[in-house]
Amino acid sequence: MSIQWFPGHMTRARRQIQEKLKLIDVVIELLDARLPLSSRNPMIHEILGDKPRLILLNKSDLADPELTARWVDVFRKEGHTAITVDASTGTNIQIIQVEARKLLEEKFARQVAKGMKPRPVRALIVGIPNVGKSTLINKLAGRQVAATGDRPGVTKGQQWIRVGNEMELLDTPGILWPKFEDQMVGYRLAATGAIKDQILNVEDVAFYAIKYLATHYSERLQERFELEVLPDLDNDDPNEIVAIMEQIGRKRGCLVSGGRVDLEKASGIILRELRAGKMGRLTFEVPDARRRS
Ligand code: G4P
Repeated sequence: MSIQWFPGHMTRARRQIQEKLKLIDVVIELLDARLPLSSRNPMIHEILGDKPRLILLNKSDLADPELTARWVDVFRKEGHTAITVDASTGTNIQIIQVEARKLLEEKFARQVAKGMKPRPVRALIVGIPNVGKSTLINKLAGRQVAATGDRPGVTKGQQWIRVGNEMELLDTPGILWPKFEDQMVGYRLAATGAIKDQILNVEDVAFYAIKYLATHYSERLQERFELEVLPDLDNDDPNEIVAIMEQIGRKRGCLVSGGRVDLEKASGIILRELRAGKMGRLTFEVPDARRRS
């Protein structure tokens, strides 16, 4: 993610989305299935108002399937239509237009009753950087239309992309900012690769990741790095986590003179392997811990 969000960017991004809302019937809100809350814009309800909304949990191929199913349940209980997708392979994307149409059924029926011709549902994709907006647009379009890379405030002529017979999509997605104020959100986004390593300290991010994995996926962590001991998480001593990072560093040959472990190098390896899916499908937010944004 190359964006540095400043208040001016946020205001402009918000205004741009609200301008686009006037043109469309339904918003497709893209979230990262591995972190459905942290990948959500903190002002999303305010920005979208009462515009019908479809929630897509993208990158579901990388997320823990059991937790993804629970997240879908949470969103559905809130009254939203939620679908899991994988934009890179296109899994489930054919459901999008069907569900979007359902959300608009009443409105369209009213229009037809007034003598208006039936027309395709007009949709806008919104989401934070790196959540998969361009990948999804290209997949839905069946060709390369959206350039990857985000810059708030950069506009170009907008066009409608036809998706089957039922839907038209704006070719430029709405780019939103994540919830920066919460440091844990930053760590989750960084651990999954949604924000670049230069923004946060790599050792801090790896520390967060190891602590989370040791708590929620301890067997996978132990197996991947052939760890002899896992930390005693009950005593909440940060040194316990650092000791695990050192064990990993030793296993992966990250040593400096005097036999000390190069923690920065070890951290880089931990994050690379995690993001490459070497520890399997992982989710970094558990529904029970959910608080409304
Ligand atoms: P954005 O427009 O919202 O900023 O996101 P974009 O589509 O550029 O996607 C960001 C990264 O996430 C891309 O990887 C993309 O391939 C990947 N991605 C998008 N959707 C999915 C998905 O459902 N599953 C998986 N596994 N990955 C997904 P990249 O490494 O930045 O680029 P590249 O590897 O595609 O070249």
